[in-house]
Amino acid sequence: MRRVMVSVVVVMLASFGVASAAPAGKVTILCSPNPPWCDAVKAEFPKATGIALEFLRLSSGEALARLRAERQNPSFDVWFGGTGDPHVVANEDGLTEIYRPRAWDDLRPELREAVAGKYIPLYAGILGWAINERLLKEKGLPVPRTWLELADPKYKGLIAHPNPNTSGTGYTLIATLVQIYGEQEAFELLKRIHRNIAEYTRSGPAPALLAGRGEVAIGITFVHDALDHVLKGFPIVYGAPRDGTGYEIGGLSLIKATPNRVNAIAFIEWALTPAAQVLNAERGESYQIPSNTKTPVPRIIPRFQDFKVIKYDFLKYGRAAVRDGLVQKWTREISTLPK
Ligand code: G6P
Repeated sequence: MRRVMVSVVVVMLASFGVASAAPAGKVTILCSPNPPWCDAVKAEFPKATGIALEFLRLSSGEALARLRAERQNPSFDVWFGGTGDPHVVANEDGLTEIYRPRAWDDLRPELREAVAGKYIPLYAGILGWAINERLLKEKGLPVPRTWLELADPKYKGLIAHPNPNTSGTGYTLIATLVQIYGEQEAFELLKRIHRNIAEYTRSGPAPALLAGRGEVAIGITFVHDALDHVLKGFPIVYGAPRDGTGYEIGGLSLIKATPNRVNAIAFIEWALTPAAQVLNAERGESYQIPSNTKTPVPRIIPRFQDFKVIKYDFLKYGRAAVRDGLVQKWTREISTLPK
């Protein structure tokens, strides 16, 4: 009698689709956004597909270095998030494969065009800063309005900026200044800003936290990372310079030669669904603009029309020679200077 009951339950579960939800292997991703978003993805993807997920969180520059080091024997199936330039570099280096997802036509056309299919756009975010107005006021200093003003000696010891070797945000800043002012003038400006830097951080969102804690007054970061700290109650405001600013098109890339291609593609397809794309704002402490036009965009998310955003050339500044050249030049000529 008992055996019959068990069989009936098994048949019922199977007919409700429960039996087919048993994990079908796993997928391993390199995850470059904020860790809470990576955690939400790890929790939700298996529920939607039955495929388990493991991730390692690395900043964009670190992730690119890891993929380059593992070229012969990749341990990741997909690179999820992080600024776009290193995704373009990874593609040019033959580390990732161009894959056209089912949702391609639903992705924002301006993002698709800007990256010309070198990787899949996952989100967009605007470069700017987190400002601790209270600290500036205590010091009798005005809120800066332009990148040029960051070079004023009155801001000495009051600025944090991500290191472009490890952080994609840091590289976005350098490429932005080069696009606005030309390479020579941008590096002269970076040299003068260097004298005011309190700390070069490893990751992109870290300067917002330092500004929130009052350890610096100005944290160069994406405005949505500054917003995250505003929402957490830190006494900062976010903004972007009036002389123009750059932006990121966060990337999603299929790692070349992964033996786990079927699950990798299942992950990519899921990551582009509106149900997955709302996780950043709802659970991920991340407020980028989602790439899928069908994903609702919460009102609090910073929009392009509120800032003076440049026409960032992702294909040029994502070329390996250009990206590596600028990062090496910054390391050689700026980071070693005395303050
Ligand atoms: C944060 C932002 C992302 C960005 C990432 C880059 O997580 O919310 O939009 O892509 O930083 O990180 P990185 O540490 O490479 O600057």
